[in-house]
Amino acid sequence: HEPTPAAPASPQDGTPPQGPTLFDWEFATDPYPAYAWLREHAPVHRTKLPSGVEAWLVTRYADARQALADQRLSKNPAHHAEPAHAKGKTGIPGERKAELMTHLLNIDPPDHTRLRRLVSKAFTPRRVAEFTPRVQELTDHLIEQFASRGEADLIHEFAFPLPIYAICEMLGVPREDQDDFRDWAGMMIRHGGGPRGGVARSVKQMRTYLGELIHRKRDDLGNDLISDLIRASDHGDHLTEAEATAMAFILLFAGFETTVNLIGNGVHSLFMNPDQRTRLQDSLAAGESALLETGIEELLRYDGPVELATWRFATEPLTLGGQQVAAGDPVLVVLAAADRDPERFADPDTLDLSRTDNQHLGYGHGIHYCLGAPLARLEGQTALATLLTRLPDLELAVPPNELRWRGGLIMRGLRTLPVKFTARN
Ligand code: HEM
Repeated sequence: HEPTPAAPASPQDGTPPQGPTLFDWEFATDPYPAYAWLREHAPVHRTKLPSGVEAWLVTRYADARQALADQRLSKNPAHHAEPAHAKGKTGIPGERKAELMTHLLNIDPPDHTRLRRLVSKAFTPRRVAEFTPRVQELTDHLIEQFASRGEADLIHEFAFPLPIYAICEMLGVPREDQDDFRDWAGMMIRHGGGPRGGVARSVKQMRTYLGELIHRKRDDLGNDLISDLIRASDHGDHLTEAEATAMAFILLFAGFETTVNLIGNGVHSLFMNPDQRTRLQDSLAAGESALLETGIEELLRYDGPVELATWRFATEPLTLGGQQVAAGDPVLVVLAAADRDPERFADPDTLDLSRTDNQHLGYGHGIHYCLGAPLARLEGQTALATLLTRLPDLELAVPPNELRWRGGLIMRGLRTLPVKFTARN
């Protein structure tokens, strides 16, 4: 591993930088100016997170890409050097629950390689393409629920239920149980970072339900992902039941709030950039899909759902962007900052739906690259295209400065997105 070239001198040797305040309300609304400052002055920056845990923030594209692929940065929270009481504050639900520990985002090779191979079949672009009609049906159904009202909250009525139902279908959660999932997930997203009691209860209910579902499906295997996981474990692929439960859980956890925010942030960015929105609407009206495809990637780069990649912990001392990272230190790769790096992207603060050469890090990079990317693309493209086609005069129902962003650490997304449009039946 080659260390990246030394970063320019930055005011980090013990003294706090004279930079922006991180993680306050203003930052949650628009973190990009703060990230620009960090990229320039303190590209690998040690900071105290709101939870009290200290971590390195990596904000330049080149450093971020290197860190995401660096095998010395482990995903296993056991490598975290913080005292035991600080563990469990990393925001990974169930982090301290052994049975949920063994999911993809918490493990390294060789376990990661084995588990990822087992599920990757379900997420090939071909398998996901078979799912297209169902995602379209779900999308149409959700829009029909509010189309005649002329107004809606796009987060709660649209962006939120779509991915939950889509993942439930993929996993093989029976329709009659999917609303329970929606409620548990709702609790997790509403209170993520807030009161922990309800979240812990929802996590527990979901875990118990998934465990029971795996038991039930053992006798009634179907054409779904949970059945595939059971078959894999029965064919000597060393998948324990705990691993299967953790897998189902991480698919929900990783594929849910991300997609909510892809739709929410995406629609918001289009509202804020009316010229780009018109371009996209014109191209959809002409029956073209090219701008939709490059556009979804650009929306991910410009204001993606995953602000920071999930946690990594140094297994040995290493140099990153000129900084000495000690063994046991947490490293957070700030995807949102890397994806606005002018060293990598021309006019990074401009939304250009037809941008080419757009190797953004919105889905991560390396062995933990988003497994669900083909499904996310399908959902994002279907959601935006259908909304803009069926409700062409869709607009924000409140002034933009009244919109509130969730102040979570890893995800970036709106609490609500009130819209209005000409009502139709
Ligand atoms: C991993 C982003 C949707 C499943 C990741 C990572 C990112 C990401 C950045 C890597 C995290 C890291 O390295 O720390 C996104 C975005 C999405 C999205 C922006 C939506 C727009 C989905 C969906 C699913 C999914 C729909 C599944 C149904 C996963 C899984 C991993 C992952 C299982 C872990 C992969 C591994 O560790 O090998 N995602 N994701 N994601 N994503 Fe997604």
